[in-house]
Amino acid sequence: MQTSANAFEILDLRHFAAPILRPVLEAEGELWQRRLHWDYQASSRLLMQYLDNHMLPGYAALASGRVMGYVFCVYEETKAVIGDVFALPSQSNGAGAAPTASSHAADSPSAQSSPIEQTLLRHLLELLLNSPHVERIEAQLLLHSSGAYGTIFGEAGFEIFRRLFLVQQLRGDSKPPQVILPANLEFRPWREADLAPAARLICEAYRDHPDSLINDQYRSVHGSMRFLNNIVHYAGCGTFSQPASFVVVERASRELAALVLGSRVSSQSGHLTQVCVHPAFRRRGLARMLLAQAAHSFTRLGASEISLTVTEANAEAIELYTDEGYTCAHSFDAAVWLRDAIA
Ligand SMILES: CC(C)(COP(=O)(O)OP(=O)(O)OC[C@H]1O[C@@H](n2cnc3c(N)ncnc32)[C@H](O)[C@@H]1OP(=O)(O)O)[C@@H](O)C(=O)NCCC(=O)NCCS
Repeated sequence: MQTSANAFEILDLRHFAAPILRPVLEAEGELWQRRLHWDYQASSRLLMQYLDNHMLPGYAALASGRVMGYVFCVYEETKAVIGDVFALPSQSNGAGAAPTASSHAADSPSAQSSPIEQTLLRHLLELLLNSPHVERIEAQLLLHSSGAYGTIFGEAGFEIFRRLFLVQQLRGDSKPPQVILPANLEFRPWREADLAPAARLICEAYRDHPDSLINDQYRSVHGSMRFLNNIVHYAGCGTFSQPASFVVVERASRELAALVLGSRVSSQSGHLTQVCVHPAFRRRGLARMLLAQAAHSFTRLGASEISLTVTEANAEAIELYTDEGYTCAHSFDAAVWLRDAIA
């Protein structure tokens, strides 16, 4: 497909190898660092491998022979997940706004969006909506402020869920938090063998939960296993940090009652990729205890802050995080489209 609009062309991303996209990825990496304190290099490297293999579905925006931006998705059976959209700052009045301060909040723009990014996203949506095998589309454009692409997603029939990026500053005190648990529960660090029980826990914890509308992997043990594999083994969300990941085990069943999973997203920041407690063990302080343990571990690992994302509708979790000293540094949208919904 080739479109000429606003002096740029939209071309299939699979025509391009990594070197021509490098300036775009570098500019995007700077924005990830500035806005979210997130080191984008590992993601960038992974993307470049896919680009070099010419197997990444998506589009590139080209002006005067130069790639100005890109959008891509990945397919998981009949689902498409939009991974990212980004255009170079000079052409992008939204995502590429000039840096002004080092804090997250000061650099979060209002819901602006770049014309190139809009065009790229429209092309990808047109492709996916017209691909009969695609039954479901999910997008979580973490880098972009809530509302930036609301109109485009809304017009295409997506449901939008506002999500918050919360940050807790770590104080650097080294006293380990106390673990006081009833005799039937055991607290310990994460182990590789926890993957399958963790998948069962996630599936139970997110039953009828807003997050299982956003990410359908949470709705089955198989899907939760896939989610966990991506987090733990494939740097799906930073680099998994085993020392900052913990579980609470019910001794009798050896099933997990609760877990927290940490990843390293930069030298200064840890990120919690998962916090959940089985419904049978809620309101006993397990989540609060796991958050304190993860915070202590990240402090020992040299991080100065922890971040996490939470859906705005998840009031209980937001109450917990706020109580623990997390504050909102950024908000973004998750968008979901179902082919059935338009039948
Ligand atoms: C959110 C969740 C992790 C809380 O786990 P928990 O072990 O029950 O939480 P805690 O007992 O440590 O509660 C700590 C505080 O959180 C808040 N909180 C937790 N559950 C709450 C609820 N149902 N209603 C209101 N406040 C709640 C309270 O401030 C509570 O303090 P209090 O009990 O002293 O009033 C758990 O409900 C869960 O697993 N939910 C589904 C998965 C999920 O949403 N994970 C977070 C994704 S970002």
